[in-house]
Amino acid sequence: MARTKLAVLISGRGSNLQSLIDAATRPDYPAEISLVISNRPKAKGLERAAAANIPQYVIDHKDFQTREDFDAALGDCLRLAKVDYVCLAGFMRMLTTDFVNDWRGRLINIHPSLLPAFKGLAVHERMIDAGVKLAGCTVHFVSPEMDSGPIIGQAAVPVLPGDTADSLAARILEQEHRLYPACVALIAGKKARLSGGVVSFDPDVSFDGALSNPPAGS
Ligand code: GRF
Repeated sequence: MARTKLAVLISGRGSNLQSLIDAATRPDYPAEISLVISNRPKAKGLERAAAANIPQYVIDHKDFQTREDFDAALGDCLRLAKVDYVCLAGFMRMLTTDFVNDWRGRLINIHPSLLPAFKGLAVHERMIDAGVKLAGCTVHFVSPEMDSGPIIGQAAVPVLPGDTADSLAARILEQEHRLYPACVALIAGKKARLSGGVVSFDPDVSFDGALSNPPAGS
């Protein structure tokens, strides 16, 4: 069966891109990465795409007068590549409502919190300051409002005594690298679908037990 075609949009380090690249090397993975686009010419993730022989494009937002012009160029590039889904992986640009509506149901993002809590930036610091005991990450379809849209999957991690924003970010990132390829596989493999504003799974998709911090019974 033909594999689902993905575009991955990045702005920086590209570790989530790498997790998708690695997953897509498995012959049974239902998706492949057709192209990587960065809005920053120096994004480290571009080297990861090059190393994996994936076509890469820089669409530098600084070359465009308006957000609309930038998004139009992005849309042209994605349409030419005939991708099925667009995965945002550390893509640090707000997309216009028109662009998001054009790609609604085909635009996926990963965010390092258990949404709808802690949208936006500096999330790890804000979670530490708020004293939350469970943190995590979310993969979701993108709606026009920042960091919102139907949730595909989430992974939780404990916040441990003495954690800093950096140590918490590292613990969450480890789960991001597991969760993003898993969620994309469910969507691409048609085992999860969006309908009526929520994502539902096939009955054979299995789930982990509850995560509690401190452990239940302690
Ligand atoms: C990740 O924490 C992701 O959740 C957020 O931006 C960061 C990107 O990291 N949206 P990387 O570029 O994938 O390493």
